[in-house]
Amino acid sequence: MEVGVGIVGIGNVGSGALQILTENAKSITEKLGFPLRVKVVCSRNIRAKKLPAGCSEVTRTTDWQDVVRHPEVDVVVETIGGTATASHVIETALRERKSVVTANKELMALRGADLWALANQNGVNLTMEASVAGGIPIHTVLREGIAGDRVVELYGILNGTSNFILTEIEKSNAAFDSVLAEAQQLGYAEADPSADIDGLDARSKLAILAALAFGEKLTPNDIYTEGIRRIMPVDFQYAHQLQYTIRLLCLARQTEEGLLLSVRPSLIPQAAILAHVKGAYNAIWIRGQYGEDTFYYGRGAGSKPTGVAIVSDLMRVAREIRFGSPERVSPFAHERLGDYKPLKVPIQKAPYYLRFRVEDKAGIIAALATILAKHNIGIDAVLQLPREDWRDLPFVITTEPAQEQAIREAVFEIRDAEFLVEPPFVMPMERGF
Ligand code: HSE
Repeated sequence: MEVGVGIVGIGNVGSGALQILTENAKSITEKLGFPLRVKVVCSRNIRAKKLPAGCSEVTRTTDWQDVVRHPEVDVVVETIGGTATASHVIETALRERKSVVTANKELMALRGADLWALANQNGVNLTMEASVAGGIPIHTVLREGIAGDRVVELYGILNGTSNFILTEIEKSNAAFDSVLAEAQQLGYAEADPSADIDGLDARSKLAILAALAFGEKLTPNDIYTEGIRRIMPVDFQYAHQLQYTIRLLCLARQTEEGLLLSVRPSLIPQAAILAHVKGAYNAIWIRGQYGEDTFYYGRGAGSKPTGVAIVSDLMRVAREIRFGSPERVSPFAHERLGDYKPLKVPIQKAPYYLRFRVEDKAGIIAALATILAKHNIGIDAVLQLPREDWRDLPFVITTEPAQEQAIREAVFEIRDAEFLVEPPFVMPMERGF
């Protein structure tokens, strides 16, 4: 007795899943005790697609309705991405009482809780392991592996493109724009790279993980987000002097007041395990109240690593279909728990790294120190590497732990100073690793 699969979207991820389903069919059948059979695949340009050997009996279509309404399809895989058509595909499939496996982080971050409710109403499943950190089974970890713990903190490197760019700048001292061009050439960064380098892709992923970890109905708008465009090679030189490095850090931390959520370039100690995550890899580090620290590492994207996540979800759903559906752990809270209400980032207290680019003259440090003192911000260190161009001189002030609100007010007051080449650049220094 087989379970029938239909795939909507034969791009990078869909074709990876199809290849694994075909090439690895024998092992999948042995593990399940029955086969998973792809019945129909859909893509806008399906005629131009070369499907793997073994797909000769698979129906091809350009109309997604043919997949979700196909009588032999039990599970629909949605790998088209975006929020418009994907919403219709998933809603229609769930109403047809077909379980859905999706890789769609943007849609799940925005509407996951509603779609989960729809799946429940129709007695079917909605799984999304592939939506966050493709090659790392982090959903399964949070929903099952450490579900008995109470998560206190979660830190992630969730965007491979940004991590590749940052670690290349760190390695080669090259400017942001040239490393971005290299990332585009290598196929990591899209022609329009903004979702990756402005932190939006990572924000969707953190919204999903934080909802899972804290049982809270979170949306991307709850997350303070800043991208990596302003990072310069000199920031790594200063960070290294401080025994830190820089990563686009996704953070979800329980505090007494509520939940702090952010995606932003941050200084992290060079000795921290996350500092060793380089290139296009992803990692998630979780601290539980009872189980303490656990760490997960792997490829965050790519046709085959993400394809594995899809196929593994398909196997889980197929077992439910064949052997009955046990009560499932919701990937989203049913209601807000309240303990974890999202907080505004300015209340957070940390040491900060402030980088200035100035046209040099006497009295700059004194002027900056006066403004910082006025906002009750203590200076920890002033760093200045030797540099020849006095018209664009970068230097750094690190602060004692201070409330971000005070830092923002001080920076606002400093930003119009006539000696600045550009507004100050601010990063928190995360020390809790
Ligand atoms: N564009 C993402 C990244 C991969 O660079 O990590 C897909 O989620």
